[in-house]
Amino acid sequence: MCGIVGYIGYEDVKETILSGLEKLEYRGYDSSGIAILNGTGLHIYKDKGRIAHLREIVDFGKEGTLGIGHTRWATHGKPNKINSHPHQSSTKRFTLVHNGIIENEDLLRMEYLQGVQCESDTDTEVVAQMIQKFTDEGKEPELAIRYTLTLIEGSYALAIIDCENPDVIYVAKNKSPLLIGKGKEFNMVASDAMAMIHHTNEFYELQDKEFAIISRNDVSIYNLFGMQIQRDIFLGELDASDIEKGTYPHYMLKEIDEQPFVIRRIIANYQDENGNLYIDQKIIEAVRSSDKVYIIACGTSYNAGLAGKHLLEKIASKSTEIHVSSEFVYNMPLLSDRPIFIFISQSGETADSRAVLVKVKEMGYPTLALTNVKGSTLYRETDYQLLLHAGPEIAVASTKAYTAQIAVLAILACRIKPCTKVDMLRELSIVANVMEALCDNKDLYEDLAKQYLSDTRNCFYIGRHVDYYTCLEAALKLKEISYIQTEGFAAGELKHGTIALIENDTPVIAVITQESINLNTRSNIKEVKARGAAVITIALKRISSDADQIIIGDVHEYLTPLVSIIPTQLLAYYAALHRGCDIDKPRNLAKSVTVE
Ligand code: G6P
Repeated sequence: MCGIVGYIGYEDVKETILSGLEKLEYRGYDSSGIAILNGTGLHIYKDKGRIAHLREIVDFGKEGTLGIGHTRWATHGKPNKINSHPHQSSTKRFTLVHNGIIENEDLLRMEYLQGVQCESDTDTEVVAQMIQKFTDEGKEPELAIRYTLTLIEGSYALAIIDCENPDVIYVAKNKSPLLIGKGKEFNMVASDAMAMIHHTNEFYELQDKEFAIISRNDVSIYNLFGMQIQRDIFLGELDASDIEKGTYPHYMLKEIDEQPFVIRRIIANYQDENGNLYIDQKIIEAVRSSDKVYIIACGTSYNAGLAGKHLLEKIASKSTEIHVSSEFVYNMPLLSDRPIFIFISQSGETADSRAVLVKVKEMGYPTLALTNVKGSTLYRETDYQLLLHAGPEIAVASTKAYTAQIAVLAILACRIKPCTKVDMLRELSIVANVMEALCDNKDLYEDLAKQYLSDTRNCFYIGRHVDYYTCLEAALKLKEISYIQTEGFAAGELKHGTIALIENDTPVIAVITQESINLNTRSNIKEVKARGAAVITIALKRISSDADQIIIGDVHEYLTPLVSIIPTQLLAYYAALHRGCDIDKPRNLAKSVTVE
């Protein structure tokens, strides 16, 4: 959600910033813009729409060695040219890009900006105007910026240019992600390493309420009171090839195909030198000594949490509740005496989950993050961390992070109760092989998607037991990228109301992986067929019948959600493809939702 790239060096900045912004497209955006400073002044190009459009309006003849760029996901004011970043102060001296939300903007306008005419509807412009105001009152720009930052409430990652000083970019961060990239005769700043990895793999982490001055050859980091902070460089672990599509037409397809490899990487990372499952003993003790696990998550991560709850209860006998972050934070249930909170988040940046984290930390409870991004906000702010090792996930629709989340939770469950009979490393290896076989069968999913989903208005996924959880995630995937109105239903619940929606040819996709509910779900299939539904069945081999269209290789009964999801991801992919949708960047969605 919103992306920032800034560059200062000796070369022209346009291509570096534009291609950096392209690497941030996955975060979700609806407008984009760039500002370049050179000897003739500051040049801003911005508009609603994709970076491809920004490339058309940028004047490539105008060269400059300092610039900032932005992708905006509208929160305050419509996505249009005026509201696109960069924003400027009224004298045009200060120009900035911002990711986050200034929560006290109304108060700041009233207190400091009476009589100042703002051009846009954004909260961001207030920051530019305030810096200008304090500079006009006699403060040095650096002080005016730091002073403004002390007055702002909310989240921000900022990159600021002072037209009267072509030798620095000022940056600051609170709650929103921002990294500084250190180069040779240049320095960069961006919302994440992906935008910089082609230029450098040396980074400085900026922490909340820190401010930095970036010049061509130097980076100085300060707190908001101007005290300099020494910060070590860290080396990015990202491989530039990880963030390329390669021969794939879409990141989503690449990421679906990567899942067997991700499972194998998880096996390798959660194993000790003797080949036994390994998770830090401190984490195991923290979970063991709790009387209840509370899983907190949003979207796909929530759906993975549902499967995780089942694993923790079945394998580890650990009582577990799961909650949607945005609900939990304002409507907290009665908690047990010794809870532990597990935050599941691909990005580690989701504002709704962080709001819960802040609250439960204040209450003094232990917290564990399960995230794909080392160093992300949830990673840094929790007591314990488990990494997903899924590699960068770029398509907005999450696929490989979902299966990685379930796999890591399965390992955690086994480690909590070591006397479990499940040989998890072996079982996960089987899962990886079955995933591979499923991914190799793309023609089948493409044919089914074409036949059943290419022009339908709605669709249902039905399943019982853990298959119901898979259905929720499968439905989310299909609606996210194909815009088909899809619901995931507990198969037995359909007859209590929703079956009224089944008409002739309504696609109903049934998932059956558990022996105990096989016959029940099959009865529900008959009920919908009797009302005209066009049914696709996804079944585990050992309980399959000849009429099932998609058959999944056998895996341990606890781990079926890891494999049954694969055909549904591919059905969603091909449905979206045949409907001409923008698969990697579905409308209205952002990958990393950094506002509540
Ligand atoms: C957004 C994304 C979803 C994701 C959810 C939670 O809504 O579009 O794909 O599942 O955020 O994200 P997280 O990074 O916390 O897993």
